[in-house]
Amino acid sequence: MSLASTGTKRRAATGALTVRDLTVSFPTATGSVDVVSHLDLDLQPGGALGIVGESGSGKSLTSLAIMGLLPPKATRAGTVMLGTDQLTSMSEAQLRRVRGDRVAMIFQDPLSSLNPYYTVGAQIEEAYRSHRRGVTRRKAHQVAVEAMERVHIKDAARRVDHYPHQFSGGMRQRVMIAMALATEPELLIADEPTTALDVTVQAQILALLQEIRRETGTSLILITHDLAVVSEVTDHIVVMRSGVCVERGPVEAIFSDPQHPYTQGLLDAVPRIDDVIGDLRSLSPTGDHR
Ligand SMILES: Nc1ncnc2c1ncn2[C@@H]1O[C@H](COP(=O)(O)OP(=O)(O)O)[C@@H](O)[C@H]1O
Ligand SMILES: [Mg+2]
Repeated sequence: MSLASTGTKRRAATGALTVRDLTVSFPTATGSVDVVSHLDLDLQPGGALGIVGESGSGKSLTSLAIMGLLPPKATRAGTVMLGTDQLTSMSEAQLRRVRGDRVAMIFQDPLSSLNPYYTVGAQIEEAYRSHRRGVTRRKAHQVAVEAMERVHIKDAARRVDHYPHQFSGGMRQRVMIAMALATEPELLIADEPTTALDVTVQAQILALLQEIRRETGTSLILITHDLAVVSEVTDHIVVMRSGVCVERGPVEAIFSDPQHPYTQGLLDAVPRIDDVIGDLRSLSPTGDHR
């Protein structure tokens, strides 16, 4: 089945994200500390942005701030626009409708996001039905099977009735992606989605994200500490360090001519970049990699 068969019209001109002057702070004994500081992000409809930086640089808090999911102690300043809608002025009830419907997230550890006591199908159906009031169980089940087919889980009609522990780590991440895609979001935010996976499976998941982008037009924010991960999947990169953007630009420019020593350091930590790109090319279903 083609990813393009459903819902592409609604998304055609959507999925744009504009973040301006985003600051996230935590109170400490000695005063407030900014863990994200005056950050601007721009994502075009259907675009893919990589946010890269070492652990603790503020990547996850940036994505949580975008979604309105910061811890209670944190304070946020700045604006977040999804298309023409300002998320930063929405009520919690309005934000709940945006989350999981117009914007979906996937995380590093699919096991902690899946309930071990329910089949994966039941969980995809629940995620779908919570945003599509009044759909029948039969329709939700059909959506779950189709979503699993889209992420290339073989024998989806049978596997939909299996429990999370019956899937490998890579397959569980596919289930999470299937769940995220069921509502046809405008924007998918993936926070370290491949960090827990071995290199081969990592390359397969990245190829899948690339395919989804191409076929659905969903915009993507890919967050990672690993520059190799963003190199083939995103068009633009923002490099973060201690909550501040130190460098931004098209992927090719950052790779060929990094301006900031910190970016150079991240590049030096990517010894197998050519191998990873080679893996992605050989795994790509169409071989189309610009
Ligand atoms: N609940 C919290 N209270 C105080 N500081 C926090 C909290 N959560 C995260 N931080 C701090 O914010 C910084 C950025 O965290 P995070 O966005 O998770 O980084 P990254 O995802 O880039 O690894 C880190 O230095 C972390 O210690
Ligand atoms: Mg993080």
